[in-house]
Amino acid sequence: MVCLGNICRSPMAQGALEYWAAKNDIDIEVDSAGTSGYHRGEAPDDRAVACMKSHGIDISSQKSRQLKQEDFEIFDRIYAMDRSNLKDLQSLCTNSQNLSKISLLLNQEDGYHDVIVPDPYYGSIKDFERVYEMTMKATERIIASW
Ligand code: 4NP
Repeated sequence: MVCLGNICRSPMAQGALEYWAAKNDIDIEVDSAGTSGYHRGEAPDDRAVACMKSHGIDISSQKSRQLKQEDFEIFDRIYAMDRSNLKDLQSLCTNSQNLSKISLLLNQEDGYHDVIVPDPYYGSIKDFERVYEMTMKATERIIASW
């Protein structure tokens, strides 16, 4: 799961995917990163932690990190939260085979096709709640089609 700062959207998306994987007994490695290293080493934003906690998901132990080249090799699927993240990922990916691993998180046939997860950093609690809803729906679909 990849966003800009790795303190709001992608940690929430990581928590959401881990939730559905655990619920369905699917053993996968889930991680998140930022295209930037602005918040390297920081825990997720307090509002992201509180929002997920209110839905029973604990993301407080995550730490922000910047995307690394080896992520393109290690992970089978790489999900971008918005079009800017997607463009950055596509230009950082030097191996053309790995390019096919990259897509928008909300790029599924039903409902949210080609939709971005809006950045809630300068927003309100409501915006974090919207990120929760979008990432939960998208990750439920990922696990359902695993
Ligand atoms: P994220 O949100 O990409 O969802 O983690 C942001 C966090 C920090 C900044 C921008 C977006 N920032 O500019 O510091």
